[in-house]
Amino acid sequence: MTWWRRPPEGPARIVAHRGASGYVPENTLLAFQRAYELGADAIECDVHLSADGQPVVIHDRTLDRTTSGRGPVSALTVAELRMLDAGAWRGPEFAGLRLPTLAEVLDWARGRLPVVIELKSDPPHDRALPGAVWAVLRETAMEDRCLVISFAPDLLRAFRAAGGESPIGLLGMRPDPDLIAGARDLGAVMALPYVGLVDERLVARAKAAGLGLGVWTVNDPETAQRLDRLGVDAITTDYPDRLRAALRAGVR
Ligand code: G3P
Ligand code: CA
Repeated sequence: MTWWRRPPEGPARIVAHRGASGYVPENTLLAFQRAYELGADAIECDVHLSADGQPVVIHDRTLDRTTSGRGPVSALTVAELRMLDAGAWRGPEFAGLRLPTLAEVLDWARGRLPVVIELKSDPPHDRALPGAVWAVLRETAMEDRCLVISFAPDLLRAFRAAGGESPIGLLGMRPDPDLIAGARDLGAVMALPYVGLVDERLVARAKAAGLGLGVWTVNDPETAQRLDRLGVDAITTDYPDRLRAALRAGVR
């Protein structure tokens, strides 16, 4: 049984969205550590490239919202990015947190949790990102413990073209284009729809196509219980402990 599929007798996997981002600053080592402590089955993180070509873990294309920096992530080197504060925006108690590289996150995750890595696809797509991520996956020997996901099929194709062998998953926000067909055509192991797209029919279509189904982003316990009853494989949340409790309480 692969880690992204629900176990035969168990509940859906719980994936911590940007770490335990409901509690502490997203996409930081603290957020991933907290997710681990709160019982997540896996962590999700977002990656962009630095000016010197290293994948770094941050959600936005620009630094403004979540760090003390300004402008595009891609304008600064890793050494420059590491000088920024990535915690104070959530409160003074988090001041001093740093923006991690993907390599640091994977080194931390080894022996702890699998990692879902989202290749961010804000236009223009960075064609060098998939190959750089694959290089880090190999250097850290985490190829088999990661799922590489994106909204952009061309970035997932570029990951394969760069030699990337890790499992991949396609994210979808809208009913069109068809997510299940798109994921199947890419050779993905998972389709990852926005929660508003998920119903019994979509779950059945994913199963018929041999795909896992991972749903994002769900913080409401009752919605999580409904999705679990529908048979989804994974649920991404900002509050892994809340969902763990909800899925336990929802056991039939
Ligand atoms: O896991 C999917 C989800 O993370 C996609 O949305 O904006 O949080 O990266 P976003
Ligand atoms: Ca993401």
